[in-house]
Amino acid sequence: MRLGVLSPRGTGEKRVAATPDTVRAYRKVGHDLIIEAGAGQGIASSDADYEAAGATIGDPYQATVLLVVGPADVDPARLRAEHVVVGLLDPYESEGLDRLAATGCQAFSLELIPRTTRAQSMDVLSSQANIAGYAAVLKASTLYPRFFPMMMTAAGTVKAARVVVLGAGVAGLQAIATARRLGAVVEASDVRPAAREQIESLGGKFIDVPYETDEEREAAQGVGGYARPMPASWLQRQAAVVAARCAQADVIITTALIPGRPAPRLIAEEVVRSMRPGSVIVDLAAARGGNCALTEADQIVEKHGVTLVGETNFPARVAADASALYARNIQQFLGLMLKDQSDELHIPADDDIVNASRVVQAGKRLFPQQGA
Ligand code: NAI
Repeated sequence: MRLGVLSPRGTGEKRVAATPDTVRAYRKVGHDLIIEAGAGQGIASSDADYEAAGATIGDPYQATVLLVVGPADVDPARLRAEHVVVGLLDPYESEGLDRLAATGCQAFSLELIPRTTRAQSMDVLSSQANIAGYAAVLKASTLYPRFFPMMMTAAGTVKAARVVVLGAGVAGLQAIATARRLGAVVEASDVRPAAREQIESLGGKFIDVPYETDEEREAAQGVGGYARPMPASWLQRQAAVVAARCAQADVIITTALIPGRPAPRLIAEEVVRSMRPGSVIVDLAAARGGNCALTEADQIVEKHGVTLVGETNFPARVAADASALYARNIQQFLGLMLKDQSDELHIPADDDIVNASRVVQAGKRLFPQQGA
């Protein structure tokens, strides 16, 4: 099978969907790769590196399967019905999928891979969110005008930074681990009851907002491992508790998301105003409206003396490792459809991972399904 790898074209994007290592792995089982010239520039992999791994540098649209990072990489004018596009296609952005559908191609959006044990090795949301959580803390540490660890020096003692993490999924847990490694005192909140144990196992303190009704308890269980919108009663109590914790915080990392919906608003303007000048908020939900009311997507702004970071692509800051993991996720995913030494795609009809991630087929957008 011929696989084409497109250069990243999204704003600030540096990641690429195949690395020389995955090229070697595909070549080993008889697949050909056409890499767009310069595709690996952002990860310090030259065209010569890809060629040495067995790829050809050329026009990736000559291949059948097109590997991309984001929707901006694809030129719909060049797509034909036989193309199969695989990548992070932002499936909640229906217009983008409609543009792909109009070309007659087939497309798979990796964000929709289910969170099941079998799909773990293909889980791009986890591999990239993990990096985002790490990079967010490092970014905060460079903007915060003090140390993270407590330090006892001859010139006096420096207190440890207090970090609050809102949302303890994959990104949040990595943020907790990274901030702890830097020596900060960390507390964290999540709607899901399972998060308590995970936060505590990383040395964080769980910010408890007890459930008071069956409706709250039921909503907190979420669906498919994901959070659901919580009842207003719980959110109000959470807001009060979080506001009190944030007022004491030096750094806040917010990661709270609910699939397919705007990010929950967890930090109001008054909360920002209550924070000490020089504090930093990194809002990892910026692309979906932000967890903080004052976040501006893709900007770093100062409001009421607090620095607010609204960067929307933290994984691209660690582009080489982000690409290595992303490329392996894609390779595992394609393993569901590629047969060694074969020029044909074998797309299984009854595979839950394939069916959940297929967003465009035969001129139609398949996601979101009607009534969903
Ligand atoms: P996400 O990126 O969709 O959301 C981030 C976090 O925000 C979640 O933990 C969510 O509960 C939390 N959140 C939502 N609303 C909130 C609110 N109002 N206040 C505070 N927190 C709020 O989630 P992510 O990181 O993709 O993980 C979702 C779940 O999937 C987690 O339970 C994770 O452990 C699980 N997971 C399971 C995998 C598997 O079994 N293969 C693989 C990866 C994740």
